[in-house]
Amino acid sequence: MDLKEMVGKEACKHIKSGMTVGLGTGSTAYHMVAEVGRMIKEENLTITGVTTSTQTLIQARELGIPLASIDEVDHIDVTIDGADEVDPNFLGIKGGGAALLYEKIVATYSDKVIWIVDESKMVPQLGEFPLPVEVIPYGSQQIFNILEKRGYHPSFRKTSDGEFLHTDSGNYIIDLHLAEIPDPHALAEELIHMTGVVEHGLFLDMTNIVIVGEKNGPKTIYNPTLV
Ligand code: 5RP
Repeated sequence: MDLKEMVGKEACKHIKSGMTVGLGTGSTAYHMVAEVGRMIKEENLTITGVTTSTQTLIQARELGIPLASIDEVDHIDVTIDGADEVDPNFLGIKGGGAALLYEKIVATYSDKVIWIVDESKMVPQLGEFPLPVEVIPYGSQQIFNILEKRGYHPSFRKTSDGEFLHTDSGNYIIDLHLAEIPDPHALAEELIHMTGVVEHGLFLDMTNIVIVGEKNGPKTIYNPTLV
């Protein structure tokens, strides 16, 4: 079985009837959403889903998963999402699929966050994957210039047509090509205080469980600081 499918299915074992479930975005989360759809149809699972992107919303609707918006629920029991990089301290980079803002909002209001990744995403240090920063279009070139002066090697994310990519909120993404992030907390603090920055892809100290797809099977790792 494909590693992404394997971890997507494994994560669904943490879902019980009656739960409100955050549904992540990306090619790994796709398999989890598909499995939730199957469990609803074949196992009478009853859940309410909260989606993290238009892409996941479309998939969930097609599967007939009952949905609520983030502002209609009082809490989320568990959110299952992919990640682009995960370090040994359960710190991660997300936003490769440009859904970081909604993903972080949904994760913030979740009792438990589970990441599903194949083993290639586990890294000793964050930073090789470009770090996305979501910015309001107005003034975004100014932010870009500052990031460039700081040596962060920024690039605006573009579509295949060469147009600026717009997120679900209509913002731009600036990717930082850092190679390594020695102090993720300090960088997160720096970025979030720049005027015009809406969010960044450093997801820190919010992930309870990582399920890693390995050739021999899924490996579940529990964050000792959040259990
Ligand atoms: C989207 C994300 C994704 O979860 C992340 O990019 C991983 O995606 P994939 O499972 O396709 O590798 O953060 O914004």
